[in-house]
Amino acid sequence: MKKIITLPGDGIGPEIMDAALSVLDVASEGQFEYEIAEHAIGGHGIDSQGHPFPEATREACLTADAILLGAIGGPKWEQSEVTPEMGLLQMRKVLGLFSNLRPIQLNETLIDRSPLKPEIVSGTDMMIVRELTGGLYFGEPKWEKEDEALDTTQYSRSEIERIIHLAFKQAQNRRNHLTSVDKANVLSTSRLWRRIVNEIAPQYPDVHVDHLYIDAASMKLVTHPKDFDVVVTANLFGDILSDEASVITGSLGMMPSASMNEQGLGLYEPIHGSAPDIAGKNLANPMSMIYSITMMLRTSFEEFELADKIEAACEAVMARNIMTKDMGGTETTESFTQAVITELRK
Ligand SMILES: NC(=O)c1ccc[n+]([C@@H]2O[C@H](COP(=O)([O-])OP(=O)(O)OC[C@H]3O[C@@H](n4cnc5c(N)ncnc54)[C@H](O)[C@@H]3O)[C@@H](O)[C@H]2O)c1
Repeated sequence: MKKIITLPGDGIGPEIMDAALSVLDVASEGQFEYEIAEHAIGGHGIDSQGHPFPEATREACLTADAILLGAIGGPKWEQSEVTPEMGLLQMRKVLGLFSNLRPIQLNETLIDRSPLKPEIVSGTDMMIVRELTGGLYFGEPKWEKEDEALDTTQYSRSEIERIIHLAFKQAQNRRNHLTSVDKANVLSTSRLWRRIVNEIAPQYPDVHVDHLYIDAASMKLVTHPKDFDVVVTANLFGDILSDEASVITGSLGMMPSASMNEQGLGLYEPIHGSAPDIAGKNLANPMSMIYSITMMLRTSFEEFELADKIEAACEAVMARNIMTKDMGGTETTESFTQAVITELRK
């Protein structure tokens, strides 16, 4: 029996979590055994237990087989001393979530939603692997004065090695092509990064490796997106590149992500935020949460058939133009979810 901790969070988080879990419930009947324990995080954690990552949530996450997160944040807590985002950062740290995986896959029936030309974007299918707990965002010293400020970029060999191994393994399970993105012509951390990639490469002889500078990679991402398979890069570059790549598919409401630790524990969540503008209105697209669940099924539980079955049902529904408003459709969160459930029961 797999133990899944759910953290619905704030805004549309609880709505899309409910919708996606009802799809999993119907799809998994007799095929996959799991138990769900729901816990508070973010603004909901602050309001209910006085903390954005409460002790009970922390304890539960530490014993989980996988974690599903909705979204956190919202205007209510923007001015507070303790913010919902602090809960998220604390959770990443406590659980050692050092890598962020973002699949960028174009659904061909939704090709017109992409800001890129169909002939450029057709066939896009890549995985961006971003280092999440090192680099410029965490380096010390870090300070800010009136007329001067300092940030530090630092990477250790072990921090780079673990993310590079993870990326090579991803490539082995995909199309055996790894692109490492850096700025080795300028930055010493990038030169170390590149050296380590080349040192590790012989351990994965079936994977073809190339290197790109971040400036060239950001251009190539919109001119030749289908040339990429697995992309691995440092924290800052990954933050920017993964957002750039995510718009290629045309909708924020469709995109999942996974964060993994060294023991293989995965946290799965949509890439978007809590969408306070549509929260409580039954308008949210639950696909980002449903895809987060299929990513969990494949990555944490090797339940490939079940994940395929759920995605096939969703895609069959969307192919009939049954979609939520963000995708140009007229469905509500509930009616779209119901259509997927009906498709699964066929
Ligand atoms: N990991 C997270 O939980 C996370 C990530 C980003 C932002 N946030 C927080 O979320 C809050 C809102 O941030 P924001 O408005 O800048 O970004 P957002 O991603 O919440 O929303 C941006 C736009 O996309 C729309 N949108 C997002 N998800 C959608 C979905 N599933 N279906 C339909 N439309 C969807 C929203 O309605 C909004 O118009 C902030 O408090 C921010 O800090 C949280």
